[in-house]
Amino acid sequence: MKKTVVGALLSVPILFSCTHSNDVSYVDDNPKVIEIGENVSKKLLKTLKEELVKAISKSPYEAIEVCNKKALQLTKKVEEEVDHGIEIKRTSLKYRNPLNKPDKYEKEALIKFENTTKEGKNLKHLIQKVNENGKTYYRYYKPLKIQNVCLMCHGEPSKMDKQLLAKIKSLYPNDKATGYNLGDFRGVIRVSIPEEMVK
Ligand code: HEC
Repeated sequence: MKKTVVGALLSVPILFSCTHSNDVSYVDDNPKVIEIGENVSKKLLKTLKEELVKAISKSPYEAIEVCNKKALQLTKKVEEEVDHGIEIKRTSLKYRNPLNKPDKYEKEALIKFENTTKEGKNLKHLIQKVNENGKTYYRYYKPLKIQNVCLMCHGEPSKMDKQLLAKIKSLYPNDKATGYNLGDFRGVIRVSIPEEMVK
């Protein structure tokens, strides 16, 4: 009797994990998804870069404020400017802001990018088809690489400005986003596109 109960209990999470893993699939290049995904992620990159350059020219400390206070706000703004229903997020396995923590599908995509980068391959994008709360979305993932300008805030802690590092640590006590080198895979921009927009 006891054994059956334990057996039944054990099988529950397994059943659940099976149904959930069916909710995501990888799809081949879809021109419409790529077009929307590229447009939206480029718009976000341009917006963030403009603000960053403006702020860095004043002081790196001010730039931290921009990233800290404005990154999510600017992402929302771009989201409102593009077609209704599209959602944008920046995420990473080594995230700085806990609000950017990847969900399980994002994590899966991030690991794929990380592995292909390690193999020396260059994956230009990934597309998932995801079922969320009864609605189907395409998720377009655009990888982000570390450039020189990023090292100031995401580089080797020993090479970073001490005061800047202290400021980052005070804002993000659990920061995971340092220790990168030029060309490293940093994370992605994820653009969610409702299925009906692609038809
Ligand atoms: C002036 C400092 C600064 C610079 C320069 C900078 N970042 Fe960041 N970055 C931050 C801060 C602060 C956050 C957390 C802010 C947020 O998104 O809420 C962040 C967050 C991110 C995130 C979102 C995931 C996470 O870790 O929370 C990505 C992706 C990212 N940065 C990539 C880059 C890339 C790529 C560059 C270079 C092109 C760059 N950053 C340059 C400070 C910086």
